[in-house]
Amino acid sequence: MDQLLIRGGTPLEGSVRVSGAKNAALPNIAAGLLTDGDLRLANVPRLKDIETISRLLRHMGAAVEGDAAGGLTVSGRAVSRFEAPYNLVRTMRASVLVLGPLVARFGRARVSLPGGCAIGPRPINLHLAGLKQMGAEIDLSEGYVEAKAPRLHGARIVFDIKTVTGTENLLMAAALAEGTTVLENAACEPEVQDLAALLNAMGARIRGAGTDSITVEGVPALTGASHRIIADRIEAGTFAVAAAITRGDVTLTDCAPEHMVAVLGKLREAGAEVTAGPGSLRVRMGARPVAVNVQTAPYPGFATDMQAQLMALMSVANGRSVITETVFENRFMHVNELLRMGADIKIAGGAAFVQGVPRLRGAPVMATDLRASASLVLAALVAEGKTVVHRIYHLDRGYETIEKRLAALGADVRRVRE
Ligand code: EPU
Repeated sequence: MDQLLIRGGTPLEGSVRVSGAKNAALPNIAAGLLTDGDLRLANVPRLKDIETISRLLRHMGAAVEGDAAGGLTVSGRAVSRFEAPYNLVRTMRASVLVLGPLVARFGRARVSLPGGCAIGPRPINLHLAGLKQMGAEIDLSEGYVEAKAPRLHGARIVFDIKTVTGTENLLMAAALAEGTTVLENAACEPEVQDLAALLNAMGARIRGAGTDSITVEGVPALTGASHRIIADRIEAGTFAVAAAITRGDVTLTDCAPEHMVAVLGKLREAGAEVTAGPGSLRVRMGARPVAVNVQTAPYPGFATDMQAQLMALMSVANGRSVITETVFENRFMHVNELLRMGADIKIAGGAAFVQGVPRLRGAPVMATDLRASASLVLAALVAEGKTVVHRIYHLDRGYETIEKRLAALGADVRRVRE
């Protein structure tokens, strides 16, 4: 198992290219199941999660081919198995994104229930309730969801709470359903918009993506299409915090600052100088950050996927900040590890009370999920002495060669075998 060795204290400087968005690429690849045409996707990040969904589609008989330029072609022509097995869903919850496309195009799907994960129970009841409203028969047996429908029909679906992959699953299902579907209280995330853009390029008729009411007029078939995946706003946000926490000066290229308004607002409030241009972002920090309060919320609110990284920044801020997590229960696993590095944080209810300290100290640390691991890397970049981040396979799920890109900005970071 690999680990990262980090010696903190160097201000990061220079420029880094932001990768394509993992959470847009995953549903877009799953959309390949909706057609027997070829989907040519550009700007696909090279990540473990992308390998996992590619394996899953190949398991069903689809062809998934990457190229050297970061492109991926998905062909769902030969799909002949309609199952997402436990061993793949267990390693990546987003595997559940095959459910909507399979039922819509083939009339059946058997998908392992994701079960608990490191950031809470994360059920898929809303995905299932929506499919039921569209006429699917749903059975649960032996840890699997079995869904059947000769042809899904349109429905008016009001989500109890906003769910990103739930909205994406039903969007894909509705694209091929008979009649019109309206998704209310839908997720507005840029990744949902990106999926809708791809589906429309495939011949779907979707309006309103990016708002909380999406209308989908079903069509009998979808075609192949070419599509470029949007920039990863969470990866970009993580690099932006890396610039701020090390009091550096970093320019991000190929990014989408318009998708990062809440995070950039908090960075500015914390004292960073943030300059956004079309597709680029410069983040500079000259002094110790100022404590700010943050509450996570669905888009366009402050992303839960940036909460752990912002907490690393607040750990060294001047003052006390309150960080409230409203999207997931149990998404504070980074706190105990940050404490081991000298942070002063208390959790009460759904909030973390962070009293900034002048400095953190390096320590061996380990996290149980992707964004928590990212926060430990950020803390390590500013900590005195050596930090060893264990179990970095979590990081590899969502950040492409993070150590090389941080090293190119001047960080002292190396990947070593345990
Ligand atoms: N929820 C339900 N029932 C459902 C679906 C969701 O109760 O049927 C609850 C969840 O338990 C949670 C809330 O609704 O409390 C929101 O969850 P959501 O469904 O939006 O999360 P998700 O779709 O499973 C995606 C991202 C996550 C990101 C969340 C929130 C992908 C592949 N994953 O997950 O990304 O944290 O939205 O923005 O898009 C990550 O990249 O590290 C990551 C975890």
